[in-house]
Amino acid sequence: MRLKDKVAIVTGAGSGIGQAIAELFAREGARVVVDDRYGGRAQETVERIKAAGGEALAIEADVSKTEAVEAMAAQALAGYGRIDILVNNAAVGTGDDILHIDEADWDAGLAVVLKSVYLCSRAVLPGMIAQKSGAIVNIASVNGLTGLGEEAYSAAKAGVINLTQNMALKYGRFNVRANVICPGTIQTPIWQPQLEKDPQIFERLIPWYPLGRIGQPEDVAKAALFLASDEAAWITGVTLPVDGGLMAGSYRMARELEAVTPEG
Ligand SMILES: NC(=O)c1ccc[n+]([C@@H]2O[C@H](COP(=O)([O-])OP(=O)(O)OC[C@H]3O[C@@H](n4cnc5c(N)ncnc54)[C@H](O)[C@@H]3O)[C@@H](O)[C@H]2O)c1
Repeated sequence: MRLKDKVAIVTGAGSGIGQAIAELFAREGARVVVDDRYGGRAQETVERIKAAGGEALAIEADVSKTEAVEAMAAQALAGYGRIDILVNNAAVGTGDDILHIDEADWDAGLAVVLKSVYLCSRAVLPGMIAQKSGAIVNIASVNGLTGLGEEAYSAAKAGVINLTQNMALKYGRFNVRANVICPGTIQTPIWQPQLEKDPQIFERLIPWYPLGRIGQPEDVAKAALFLASDEAAWITGVTLPVDGGLMAGSYRMARELEAVTPEG
């Protein structure tokens, strides 16, 4: 068990990647605080964890709101006495480009994707510093690494990467680590609006991926487990793409060049 006796908060854990992380962490021995802005979703994840013999606590908190985040940290401490791991996973897609997104949607998107990482980290860091151990794993995106559209979401994810790097520098001396995962396309409910417009979207995206498939929530959960565990004790400030090779280069261009230079 790689997280035995650890207490982990996972935000946005009522669906998709967050749910997979919460379930895997629980299987590895962690007591998991399962947050979601929709309490019913958090409760469903907790029931899945308990049915598998794990230990978890559901909390309904909107991580873009200060009071809700402070209350979540307080409930976690009241329930389990300490916080060893924080996974900042909650996010929403914001959709339109800068000529079409309105100001209120821009602000709301950034609050959930970026400000939440500041609020949640701020809530747990004092305890981690005092106990001289802690691991923060942020879930950003390949959208934070390069231009792929969805400007507000992508700019916020780039901010998450930089914030992670600065946390790694500032709190390393207290044995608090901060790392960030950048997933590529992962099959989760966040894609529902695009799937409704284009039911073939996943099939159309597969040719961009050197490993020949899009990702599943468990692909990200396994990376988060490693970064949260003591196996990564000397790893901090790392930006880890979990993306089937997408960020290794332009696979489509490489394949087209390969077709014209057979011996290359
Ligand atoms: N699925 C992908 O292709 C993909 C790719 C790159 C990055 N990501 C990132 O992975 C993370 C998880 O995404 P997912 O695909 O599992 O999405 P999802 O929509 O399946 O799950 C997100 C969960 O977060 C919750 N949530 C949203 N806003 C919240 C808030 N303010 N407070 C608390 N909970 C909130 C939602 O209710 C939902 O249950 C996100 O950070 C997302 O940006 C996903």
